[in-house]
Amino acid sequence: MSGLTKQRYLVTAALPYANGPLHVGHLAGAYLPADVYVRYQRLMRREVVFVCGSDEHGAAITMRAHKEGVSPREIVDKYHVLIRDTFQKIGIAFDIYHRTSEPLHHQTSQEIFRKLLENGHFEERETEQYYDESAKQFLADRYIQGTCPICGNPDAYGDQCEKCGTSLSPDQLLHPRSALSGNPPVKRPTTHWYFKLNEHEAWLREWINTGRIDGKQVHDPTTWKAHVIGQCNAWLDQGLQPRAMTRDLDWGVDVPPDIPNAQGKKLYVWLDAPIGYISATKQWAADNRDNWERFWKSEDTALIHFIGKDNIVFHCLIFPAILRAHGEFILPVNVPANQFLNLEGAKFSTSRNWAVWVHEYLQELPGREDDLRYNLIKNMPEQRDSEFTWKGLQETTNTELVGNLGGFIQRVFVLVHKNYGGVVPRSVPDQTFRSGWNAETITTTDQELYQLAKKLEEMGAHIEHFQFRDALRVLMEISSAGNALLQFNEPWKVAQEHPEQVKAVLFTALQYVVALSVAMRPFLPFSAERLRAQLNLSPFADDGELVAILNDLLEGNAILWPDHRIKPPEHLFSRLPDEVIERQIQKLHASTPREAAKPLNDSRPPLKDTVPFEIFAQLDLRTATIIAAEKIEKADKLLRLTVDLGFETRTIVAGIAQHYSPEEIIGRQVLVVANLAPRKMRGIESQGMVLMAEDAQGRLCFVRPDENWPNGFAVR
Ligand code: MF3
Ligand code: ZN
Repeated sequence: MSGLTKQRYLVTAALPYANGPLHVGHLAGAYLPADVYVRYQRLMRREVVFVCGSDEHGAAITMRAHKEGVSPREIVDKYHVLIRDTFQKIGIAFDIYHRTSEPLHHQTSQEIFRKLLENGHFEERETEQYYDESAKQFLADRYIQGTCPICGNPDAYGDQCEKCGTSLSPDQLLHPRSALSGNPPVKRPTTHWYFKLNEHEAWLREWINTGRIDGKQVHDPTTWKAHVIGQCNAWLDQGLQPRAMTRDLDWGVDVPPDIPNAQGKKLYVWLDAPIGYISATKQWAADNRDNWERFWKSEDTALIHFIGKDNIVFHCLIFPAILRAHGEFILPVNVPANQFLNLEGAKFSTSRNWAVWVHEYLQELPGREDDLRYNLIKNMPEQRDSEFTWKGLQETTNTELVGNLGGFIQRVFVLVHKNYGGVVPRSVPDQTFRSGWNAETITTTDQELYQLAKKLEEMGAHIEHFQFRDALRVLMEISSAGNALLQFNEPWKVAQEHPEQVKAVLFTALQYVVALSVAMRPFLPFSAERLRAQLNLSPFADDGELVAILNDLLEGNAILWPDHRIKPPEHLFSRLPDEVIERQIQKLHASTPREAAKPLNDSRPPLKDTVPFEIFAQLDLRTATIIAAEKIEKADKLLRLTVDLGFETRTIVAGIAQHYSPEEIIGRQVLVVANLAPRKMRGIESQGMVLMAEDAQGRLCFVRPDENWPNGFAVR
């Protein structure tokens, strides 16, 4: 595929709607992978421009404005600033964060619309659409509510029923009403411009599946994700239809007013938003005295769109068709869409506040940007949906960042200070020691440096193939090898007898640390910068630092020289304590009604076999009250309960610690299986069982009498 080697990269990340804050699902979906990719390319001294910005049009914005009783302008101004600053604080290194409400964007979109019109890519069609006579407005699909024909939900929207998840069109709703006035809407004729997407079906199919256009290879489909190609083909197989590219709205980009019938018409948001990538590039070029056309009109540019899976057809079919119909623009060489991230067993839901908001995270866990980045990259939904949990964050921070990576670096700093006063030792060439990669192998510094280079290349190859989880794993393998290098050679023990060997081991370990400081940069930019300072090296310029050390290492050269002085040891990462995690878990559950988190699936457990009444009658169920509760050491799922059965008290060990804190359950009435054979758990005898109901996500709640009842009486 050498013909596909490109001279420069234009990387885009989906423009977020400026109608609400960012949550960690957004980061894991599109922005972190894009950022890792871009930072890596800069470290390889490749020319790259990374653009993003706010998507400020469409029903997403006007709905929000309507709900809050303010203008769309107020909404986008507020969230544009919040989102832009959040990205900056979590270290997403855009070259520009533009806005689709900027005049430059309006002009750019209008020019493209005009060119498409002139070249015959639109047809005008008259259709009947819902209109609200009291609000004097046509109604976007989202603005029509009614009864879902599938599940009977009386509050379904014209595009979707949120209860059963079915996509709908407004005509399917029973008893439609306007979300603006509540009145039944009427149908009115209206005319729109339809893009003849159907005419693009054949080349799109060929381009997506083979990477060829008119026989010319323009991308390598084997590097595209299977789920992306699969979703495109599913669409193509249904046949592409002309699509309306205008709307009757009062917020958005005007159809150029000199075009006949343009009065009151705006561009469809999914036409103008991706054009936002082009206007952002134009603005960046203007700000940097550069030429934007090098990026959009040259086959030497690799255009890459990072998005979430709900944006696939827009970026892989519709926008490419627009670009090609226009005639002057290149097409993306890849669209590495991610799947979705879930949160603690349920889908993120903005309306139900089931989310971890990035700006709140930054405030409440200051200095822990990289902890979050690490966890999200490690669990990135690259091929399938994945999950964020607070316990998981604690685990990756404490074990992998503090334990493995931070631990290695700290040990090297301490040993170099202890043995050589912080000065890189000069070691005798060809001194041998045990390899960090394998305790059985006797090695030299040169050989270790070569291995290190190979590992860095392996990491880079994963990033270039959009395999960010694998790349991160390789980074940590380097750190593990560094730890092993120390463990196998025990430089703290042999210091006296074999000073030359200790020098060689620590000299090598320092080379590992320098390599890590560079390789960490795409994933953990804040810690990488701090480590750089601790190593007493110049700050990153994002200009080829990785390719420079790779060249050195492959030629057998060191990347940190003898006599260089490093700064005193300082911890790079710190443990995430239980209290912080518990507080966040409680906050998450407190902010959403208990029933609100939407189950991922509704699967109920299959029915067990029928039992005769006699067997049921053998169970002795009693009313009881929890009078004491405490955590059990080293058992994070269990609570030790003391329950009052009226005639006696019992100790019961219950697996509910992840659902309830001890304080919140003291005094609660419960039902207990009182004649269960006692069982030892963690050394404590559990004398019975508390009945709980469980839902599809494994959440638990107590089952209890529906009014206060004396304790110790039978349940039958
Ligand atoms: N705002 C859209 C969303 O959040 C994404 C727009 S991506 C762009 O789903 F290409 F249109 F910019
Ligand atoms: Zn429904």
